[in-house]
Amino acid sequence: MQSSWSDIRHDFPILSRTVRDGRPLVYLDNAATTQKPNQVVDTITDYYRSHNANAHRAVYALAEESTKMYESARDKVAGFINARDRSEIIFVRGTTEAINMVAYAWGRANVGKGDVVVTTEYEHHSNIVPWQLLTQEKGASLRYILMDDEGCLMLDTLDDILDEGRTKLVAFSMMSNVLGTITDVEQITSRCRRAGVPTLVDGAQAVPHMRVDVESLGCDFFAFSGHKMMGPTGVGVLWARKSMLEKMRPFHGGGDMIREVHKYESTWNDLPYKFEAGTPNIADVVGLGAAVDYLERIGMGNVRRHERELTAYALAKMADVPGLTVYGPRDPDRRGGVISFNFADVHPHDVAQIMDEDGVAIRSGHHCAQVLMERLDVAATSRASFYVYNTKGEVDVLVGALRKVAEVFKLG
Ligand SMILES: Cc1ncc(COP(=O)(O)O)c(C=O)c1O
Repeated sequence: MQSSWSDIRHDFPILSRTVRDGRPLVYLDNAATTQKPNQVVDTITDYYRSHNANAHRAVYALAEESTKMYESARDKVAGFINARDRSEIIFVRGTTEAINMVAYAWGRANVGKGDVVVTTEYEHHSNIVPWQLLTQEKGASLRYILMDDEGCLMLDTLDDILDEGRTKLVAFSMMSNVLGTITDVEQITSRCRRAGVPTLVDGAQAVPHMRVDVESLGCDFFAFSGHKMMGPTGVGVLWARKSMLEKMRPFHGGGDMIREVHKYESTWNDLPYKFEAGTPNIADVVGLGAAVDYLERIGMGNVRRHERELTAYALAKMADVPGLTVYGPRDPDRRGGVISFNFADVHPHDVAQIMDEDGVAIRSGHHCAQVLMERLDVAATSRASFYVYNTKGEVDVLVGALRKVAEVFKLG
C-alpha cells in the first residue's frame, strides 16, 4: 500500500470541509459518486493547461501528446480489469451508456420475437430499462432472476429460465447498489456458457471496490463508471470480448468511427474506434487513467479489506440502534460497503435530513432500483455507502446520528 489511511484522506481536500454551521463533513454517499483525489484533479487541470488538442486527428506536437495521453489511459484501464486486448476497452459516458450500447448495437441484431432477456430483481434502472425498450420493440420478453429475503439471487430460477431455451442474454450487476450483495458472477456465467447464452455484467459498484478480472469472470460484456472510482463524471467503460465487438454494428455514427464514407455507404474503423464516434471526452478519460493509477497504488485487495472491516463494524453497531431495519446479507463476506436501512414509519427523507444536521451525507430514495423497492415492499430506503477514505470514527458519527433519529421519533 502506498501510505497510511490517514494520508489518503489528505489527498481529498473536500473531506476536510465543514458543512451546516461547522460540522465536519462525513461523506457516506459513495455509491452515488465518490470524491476525487488531488492526483486526479491535477491531472485533468494539467491536461487542459498544457496538452489540450483533439485526439487521433492531427500530426502536430500537442495533438500527439493528447492522443498519447488518451490511449495510455486505455492501457491502464485494460490492465486494471485484466482485458486481454486494449481494443476491447470502449470509452463511453458511463455504465448507463455502456449498457444502452449493448442493447442497441448487439441486442437489436440478436434478440427477436419470442426471445428472452434475463436480468435480476436487484438491478439499477440502467440494467432494466434498456432491456424493456429492446424486448418491447422486438416482441421478446424480459424475465427476472428472483432474490431471497436476505437479498441474494436464487440461481435455480435462472436454471429454470435457461432450460426453456429462448434466452439470448443474461444481464446482472456484480454488486447491488442498494443491498451491497456481491453476486456470484462465475456461477452465473458458467451456467450461461453451458447453455450458450452471453452475459453482461454491470460492474458499476464492483470495479471501484474490489479486484475485477474480466477474463476470469467469464462474461461477454462488462460496464462501469469512472465517477464511482475516484475519476471524473462523464466517462465510463464498456469492455466486451473482441469476437463480440467485431460482429456488432456501430452504436453512434460520425467522425473517427469510419474507415471510408461514400454518398450512400460507409465502412468502419478498427476496434475500439468503431464504437467511439466524435471527439471523445479526452480530459476525463485521462483523469480516469489517473484514478486507476491511484487505486493501483493503494491496491484493490487493500480497498476491499478496508471496506469489509468498516462494513462489519457498521453492521454490528447498527444492530443495536432501536427500531432500525437493515437490508441485505448479514455476512460481510457476501456484501460490499453499501448499507440500506429504514426506521419503521419514518420517511427516509426525514432520516437523511436529521443526519445532514450532523454533517452526515447519506442518500434516501429508491436509488434507481424501483423493482427492488417493490420486492422489499418499501417506497424508499436510506443508504450509507463507504469508500477507502472513510473511517471507523465516521461510522461512529453515523451511528450516533441514527440513535438521534430513534430518539426524535421515540423508537425502541
Ligand atoms: C449498479 C449500478 N449500475 C448502474 C449505475 C448507473 O451509473 P451511471 O449513472 O454512472 O451511468 C449505477 C449508478 O448508481 C449503479 O449503482
